[in-house]
Amino acid sequence: MFDSDSALALFGAGGHAKVVIDLVEKQQQLPIAFLADDDAKLWGQPFYGYPVIGGKSALLSQWRDHPAFTCLVTVGSNPIRARLAAWLQSEGIAVAAACAHPSAQVARGVVIDQGTVLMALTAINADSVIGRHVIVNTGASVDHDCVIGDAVHLAPGVRLCGGVTVGECTLIGVGAVVLPNIRIGSNVTVGAGATVIENVPDGATVVGTPARRVLP
Ligand SMILES: CC(C)(COP(=O)(O)OP(=O)(O)OC[C@H]1O[C@@H](n2cnc3c(N)ncnc32)[C@H](O)[C@@H]1OP(=O)(O)O)[C@@H](O)C(=O)NCCC(=O)NCCS
Repeated sequence: MFDSDSALALFGAGGHAKVVIDLVEKQQQLPIAFLADDDAKLWGQPFYGYPVIGGKSALLSQWRDHPAFTCLVTVGSNPIRARLAAWLQSEGIAVAAACAHPSAQVARGVVIDQGTVLMALTAINADSVIGRHVIVNTGASVDHDCVIGDAVHLAPGVRLCGGVTVGECTLIGVGAVVLPNIRIGSNVTVGAGATVIENVPDGATVVGTPARRVLP
């Protein structure tokens, strides 16, 4: 199954995986070896031209037989991505280095951790730090000195001003804007199109302009 010394395995064969596959193909650095997915209906089927070999046990046996790949979790849901990332870690399966679409702009001093993907037309500005298994989705921008936690999803078109902090597993919805130096907690949902002008506590859902708490 492996034609090279190193290859990528993707866990998750849904819509987000399609976007990541396109990115990886355009990046032309690592070949994709196969996908895995918990959904047994997908097993043995091709997905975007690559085989879905099975679920966790199939991935694990590939890893034990031939650990010449690194793995990216290609699931859009933050909690599920975080759970799968924890499983990879518990099994000692290597996580891929961050992958960036060729059009992504990454400035000086930026640090991006493993398993993170930067989609087309994204920009990460000076000295920002991006955690593990983060999705910076199409056209999103992260300005200078931001700190983004693990398993965050910055949805398409999000704009983070400078100095913003985002806690782990938070979703910032499509097109939302976050003003400078705002602190957004963990497991927060920021609604699509929101403008966040004040700090948001852990677990809250905020919507609108200016963003107001609706849940819990
Ligand atoms: C915020 C969000 C999670 C709320 O979803 P929900 O829990 O199903 O909540 P509801 O749809 O029941 O809405 C709750 C209230 O918030 C309002 N609301 C929901 N989303 C809103 C938004 N984005 N902006 C403004 N108001 C919004 C609803 O009108 C409703 O108001 P009401 O109680 O006065 O009727 C969702 O609407 C959203 O914006 N998700 C982001 C999706 C996204 O960007 N995903 C990334 C894809 S790549």
